[in-house]
Amino acid sequence: MDGYAVRAEALEKRYGEKRALDGFDLAVREGTVHGLLGPNGAGKTTAVRILSTLIRLDGGRATVAGLDVARQPREVRARIGLTGQYAAVDEVLTGRQNLEMFGRLFHLGGKRARLRATELLEQFDLTDAGDRGVAKYSGGMRRRLDLAASMILAPAVLFLDEPTTGLDPRSRGEVWDSVRALVAGGTTVLLTTQYLEEADKLASHITVIDQGRAIADDTPDGLKNLVGGDRIEVVVTERSEIQRVVKVVARVTDGEPEADETELRVHAPVADRVTALTEVARTLQDEGVRVEDIGLRRPSLDDVFLRLTGHRTEKESAA
Ligand SMILES: Nc1ncnc2c1ncn2[C@@H]1O[C@H](COP(=O)(O)OP(=O)(O)OP(=O)(O)O)[C@@H](O)[C@H]1O
Ligand SMILES: [Mg+2]
Repeated sequence: MDGYAVRAEALEKRYGEKRALDGFDLAVREGTVHGLLGPNGAGKTTAVRILSTLIRLDGGRATVAGLDVARQPREVRARIGLTGQYAAVDEVLTGRQNLEMFGRLFHLGGKRARLRATELLEQFDLTDAGDRGVAKYSGGMRRRLDLAASMILAPAVLFLDEPTTGLDPRSRGEVWDSVRALVAGGTTVLLTTQYLEEADKLASHITVIDQGRAIADDTPDGLKNLVGGDRIEVVVTERSEIQRVVKVVARVTDGEPEADETELRVHAPVADRVTALTEVARTLQDEGVRVEDIGLRRPSLDDVFLRLTGHRTEKESAA
């Protein structure tokens, strides 16, 4: 191998007229977490399905663990794990029974399947919950069980398709910890997400995908620099207040404020989030400026898109 656990070149996948992948390129270094960041319908799941050999590519070329996904699908499958966008565990069974069942699906034999289930429950911090029915699990526990199930054979490459979508912040943090533990153990992870924050927290490299194509490939810091980091945001009640608020914000923060006249919004980059928030709020109050809302915003996928493409992420049309 050449230091890359996953390589895709000019991947194509069509569904009728729709080009789900349209010349998609990707290179994932061994032993890293690589984020595939993109909005609904961008082609993330399609890419993961092709790389994990669940569907066939229409054009281009891809290797996983040095093996060609089109010509050596069986060999690829022996080296990967996959956690899909929708949970695959059985609600009726306990966590332990689920893992044992997956173990037997992978031909481990009863005794080794039981042993592996116990190990995995421990690794994913589910030992206490292991003998409870999955129906009673929280979203975060369920996702961790999903991760555990995809780790039965300790794969070289693990695909995680939106592992934390729909989870509350605490559960999300738990899943992140599990992913970090996996990578510390030597697994390479390709993780799809719609959250810049998630890619930032976990990944050393991020590919941004839009309409089936990679539109950026960078480090998290590179992407964040592109959008200018955290921002403070003030929403005014009346348009006539905008210029006053711009002056206050300019005085208190380091960066140049921008005003959005239609949304009655003034925003500016900040270095120290909490200090900036406190100072802006106090100064506005001292000056008697009434505002609708004031808050801090971390850069989002939307901000990245705006910078890269000049437009916001679009909700996928029904057509
Ligand atoms: N089996 C299919 N038949 C027809 N169209 C499909 C099929 N699978 C995906 N598509 C279309 O291909 C495009 C890419 O879909 P994909 O599921 O890969 O996006 P995604 O990035 O995973 O989105 P999400 O964030 O919503 O999961 C979308 O326009 C989708 O509607
Ligand atoms: Mg998807």
